[in-house]
Amino acid sequence: MTYVKLNKRFLGERLNARAEELLPQARQHLQKLLEKTCVGSEWTGWWDYPKQRGYALNEEIKRYVEQLDVDYDLVLVIGIGGSYLGTRAVSEALLHTYQSAMDTHQPMIAYAGHHLAEAQLIEVLELLDKRLPLVNVISKSGTTTEPGVVFRIVRNYMEARFGEEEASRRIICTTDAKEGALRLVADQKAYASFVIPDDIGGRFSVLSPVGLVPLALLRLDTKALLDGADAVFAELQNQPAESAVLGYAAARLAAYEADKRIEILATSNPKMSHIVEWWKQLYGESEGKEHKGLFPAGMVYTTDLHSLGQYVQDGVRNLLETFLVIEQDVARRKGIEQRIRVPAQSSKLDQLTYLEGRFVNDINRAAMQGTLLAHYDGGVPCLQLTVPDLSERSLGALFAFFECGCALSAAMLGVNPYDQPGVEAYKKNLFALMGKPGTEALGQKLRERI
Ligand code: PA5
Repeated sequence: MTYVKLNKRFLGERLNARAEELLPQARQHLQKLLEKTCVGSEWTGWWDYPKQRGYALNEEIKRYVEQLDVDYDLVLVIGIGGSYLGTRAVSEALLHTYQSAMDTHQPMIAYAGHHLAEAQLIEVLELLDKRLPLVNVISKSGTTTEPGVVFRIVRNYMEARFGEEEASRRIICTTDAKEGALRLVADQKAYASFVIPDDIGGRFSVLSPVGLVPLALLRLDTKALLDGADAVFAELQNQPAESAVLGYAAARLAAYEADKRIEILATSNPKMSHIVEWWKQLYGESEGKEHKGLFPAGMVYTTDLHSLGQYVQDGVRNLLETFLVIEQDVARRKGIEQRIRVPAQSSKLDQLTYLEGRFVNDINRAAMQGTLLAHYDGGVPCLQLTVPDLSERSLGALFAFFECGCALSAAMLGVNPYDQPGVEAYKKNLFALMGKPGTEALGQKLRERI
């Protein structure tokens, strides 16, 4: 089954024709990816991960979760970038938005370590106080400042509240097998730990223990997540002449060659907003180098039609817009569809009589269709990506789809998708400004400039 479908009808004739010409190039790069002869091939462990390692690991994680000997009603994930965005994308898409207020018998999830804002950290500590937490600290390098600082604070809290022994049963580390400070701490404290494979970088790691562990702790269907991804990999494994992934990569380059500089990923479901955030990191960090790449921006419609819609319709024409469409976007409770219609009323004052009896989602769909046509008519080339529903399977397919699309897009652009040299600049300055030993001279220079 093809989980992610691509519609290029609204890309425009010229870009469509160019995208067709670029397809053979996309195919060549797919072949290099499969043969492991692409640039950065030592980082392509994410390719075909479900079959290679994911399914076996998933069983191991399930056993671990079943054998946990502490009660918990909150999972706190501490991580930044690729170490938390994928999990957040799934949890926000599939859990109740107001989980903490619902009697769902499913643990809630909270996130920390992805910023350094004290006020919000205080709120996290207050939340921990109200709950029985499990903490999953995730850092591939094990040396990232934000999760490192926050983990130190949370660890202190956990030990003070539960005592060292119980705290150690409530803390799970996901990190490198050998390297990094987090590995040292995990080993010394005998925390349960899961290994992020050497050949998978942060932003490509959602289907590894980085995502599988916290999502399994939430009792989400991680096997279905892997199944969705596996379907995408399996299709590409056969090197098809055409596929949605190949078409997406070719269309992006065609748009870039035609001076488009920003790609907007637009969704009409706020529950997908962190899929968009995950996508932004994947494409921004993978492609934005050597002064190249489409800047990845996100929109949640119809909300953003009342803020940024004006710019998309009428501003600088350097945009490509990709609409993410969910075919069956309906909520279910215990397997039963929940729908809301616009109610009938005797008063006509609100002038909405013509909508009576219509589902809210039908209005949403019409708004998306109208927006697509308006933006296209306004000179924005548009793509549509469609997934069947909002489920683990569809999200897994989207992860694999975008990872493959990103690897091919970056290769076609001529950049290595797997490094991130630009991220180091702020870190160097942060260390110097905070007086890390060995950075005194730079610290002095920076302080003089501020
Ligand atoms: O994609 C990447 O490599 C980065 O975004 C990392 O995920 C992010 O910087 C966090 O790194 P780490 O997991 O080492 O703490």
